[in-house]
Amino acid sequence: MPAPRIVVTRRIPEPALDLLRGSDADLWISEHDRPLETGELHQAVSGADAVVSLLHDRVDDAFLDAAGPQLRSVSNVAVGYDNIDVPAATARGVVVTNTPGVLTEATADIAMGLVLMATRRLGEGERLMRSGTPWSWHMFFMLGSGLQGKTIGIVGLGGIGRAVARRARSFGMRVAYTSRTPADPEVEAELEAERMTLDELLAQADIVSLHLPLSEETRHLIGAEALGRMKSDAYLINTARGPVVDEAALADALKRGEIAGAGLDVFENEPDVHPGLLELENVVLVPHLGSATKETRTAMAELAARNALAVAAGEPALTPVNPEVSPGSRP
Ligand code: GLV
Repeated sequence: MPAPRIVVTRRIPEPALDLLRGSDADLWISEHDRPLETGELHQAVSGADAVVSLLHDRVDDAFLDAAGPQLRSVSNVAVGYDNIDVPAATARGVVVTNTPGVLTEATADIAMGLVLMATRRLGEGERLMRSGTPWSWHMFFMLGSGLQGKTIGIVGLGGIGRAVARRARSFGMRVAYTSRTPADPEVEAELEAERMTLDELLAQADIVSLHLPLSEETRHLIGAEALGRMKSDAYLINTARGPVVDEAALADALKRGEIAGAGLDVFENEPDVHPGLLELENVVLVPHLGSATKETRTAMAELAARNALAVAAGEPALTPVNPEVSPGSRP
């Protein structure tokens, strides 16, 4: 059997590249430190047996056509895989993998960081200091909202949602959640979490934190109507995917004081941000840093590399998104 051709669409941490280099694979790594343009991407993946992809790479029919019928796997270095047309890959027998688990704690940390930044006005305070604006301590200076005794509403109680709920509890918060299926009774008991509908959660939560994947059902889940259901002193936190929130509607709601504030790590059209948000003091904006620790990014890339190598060796993928596609067989 010829050595499998593994294509890595953008530089990833060295330990992951070392794993790939240590195999017999014929390895191609993009030399650009930027996303490949569509044409470049299609050219790069032509003839690949495995592709290690990043969340900005669109994996659709055109990509799969460009890769060719020998393609066995696409390993996304991300837990989210909304950049991949999974049914199209499945139809061609291509295993798709993601990186669950390894980024749970890092992402939960960022969500909690945004909660603190938004409720305690930390970004605003930092901007004030750096602007040289005169200030002095006084009783009513930059008052925020405390977290003790408040309710965090977790939308999507998967691994990251649970990790955020644990953190919130250590800040003295009560946990409400909404998800398609109830959490395991032990998880509910551990978190003392109450399941409710999205509308109930929006109406009750002091913090609404989003932890669900982007899909056609969740696109703009949080739009004008949902924001209108939230309490006027509540905060929205998004570390999931930008398009789950209608950014224009959020900018409007924040401007009109329909909700108190927001903390966003992800955006509808990254790297762009809705201009209405940039003007507002009551929104914290950070550039998609959820998994951005050295340790986490290395673990994500290593997991993707191991997935690519496993499928190339005819073994089951470690974390397949479409487990029904058995590595050895094609439809
Ligand atoms: C990052 O956003 C990821 O999905 O891993």
